[in-house]
Amino acid sequence: MQIRQLSDCHFRNQTILVRVDYNVPLVKRKGKLTVGDPRRIRASYATVNKLLAQGNKVVLLTHLGRPSASDYKRFSLQPVLNFLEKDTHWQLKFLADPFAKEAKNFIDAAPQESVILVENLRFGEGEKKNKPAFAKALAKLGDGYVNDAFSASHRAHASIVGIPKFLPACAGEFLRGELKALESILNHPKRPLIVIVGGAKISDKVDSIVNLAKIADAILIGGGVANNFFKAVGLAVQKSYLQDAPADLAKVGLNYVDIAQDIIEDNLGERLLKDGYIPLPKIIYPVDVIAAKTPDSKNTQIIDLTSATKVQAPDDLMYLDIGPKTVRLYKELITQAKTVFWNGPMGYFEKPAFATGTKSIARAVSKSSAFTLVGGGDTLAALEEFKCLKGIDYLSLAGGATLEFLAGKKLVGLAVLEKKDES
Ligand code: 3PG
Repeated sequence: MQIRQLSDCHFRNQTILVRVDYNVPLVKRKGKLTVGDPRRIRASYATVNKLLAQGNKVVLLTHLGRPSASDYKRFSLQPVLNFLEKDTHWQLKFLADPFAKEAKNFIDAAPQESVILVENLRFGEGEKKNKPAFAKALAKLGDGYVNDAFSASHRAHASIVGIPKFLPACAGEFLRGELKALESILNHPKRPLIVIVGGAKISDKVDSIVNLAKIADAILIGGGVANNFFKAVGLAVQKSYLQDAPADLAKVGLNYVDIAQDIIEDNLGERLLKDGYIPLPKIIYPVDVIAAKTPDSKNTQIIDLTSATKVQAPDDLMYLDIGPKTVRLYKELITQAKTVFWNGPMGYFEKPAFATGTKSIARAVSKSSAFTLVGGGDTLAALEEFKCLKGIDYLSLAGGATLEFLAGKKLVGLAVLEKKDES
């Protein structure tokens, strides 16, 4: 996809609205809310610094969390402002209400090459509803618009798709980086491409599994997602977590197990050769799991899911991690890969009794000589926990947007930045 970039817009000595994604976790330190993970904030610095170096004034627009009217205080961007004050040399100002009469004057009066952070856009209902008047009022505050929030570009919100209707618009450096990394998976991956999908819920992953199955050489399934695949092939999942189907699926009598079954059946013909000669199905799910009565239980057992032993399994257990044989198989396949994409932990890694699977995969991915791309908040947290961040080639800071992009969907926020064919 060809999208307009900063060099296409030539913003110089102007006021530029930059949509960033400062939707970051906040944690209480000494009774005060502070930024828990600053990666998304720091990722915006390249674009902001470039615009400042070209004599522009920068107005930062973002959302934070999903506030409701009764709950605004908890979602104020004040902690982000405090962080920026410490972490940058920018001349900073804070605009609490971008719709106040004085807002435009406030921005005009700010010095050139300064940065104005605007309070949480979701405090106004026009943002999520993409009300044209809301977008227009924001657009009036600047001369140009830059989207540097790949992770919010799947949202048809005013600051993503509305403002570009009124101003010259392009993508920022960070957005372009995310796009380039993800496009490299979809368009020209070095093979074998191994995709690893885990996490508790299948709902947000199912479309990307379907699309990536068309591209990948193998998809290794883990976490709660795997339970759907076990059930699809007739294996008992006991008390393990199975996500309920959404209303539209349930209405026609379908659930995620049926979808998992379709995915397996649609991908029977494809093969990856393990060690160069053992053919494998494209969709690979665990051959054993670590189980316990509850996630807090220290009394764990390995359940072999091969047909010889499945009948002997007790029926009051939850599957909470992938087992040792699966770890071995997945590690061997990761070693063979030339490209790896990983999203979602292999088990309940926050509990030490169920961390081995995720830890082993984190180590294997970080040591791999393949091009490795990892996305999703929990997966990044796992890499951090197991000190494996350094070995990863690209850490995607987007969650839902990455999954939608890899599902082959056109992100609305990117579509509005697309270069028109000028021939
Ligand atoms: C994210 O964290 O994935 C983005 O900031 C989007 O947030 P949202 O899911 O609340 O729209």
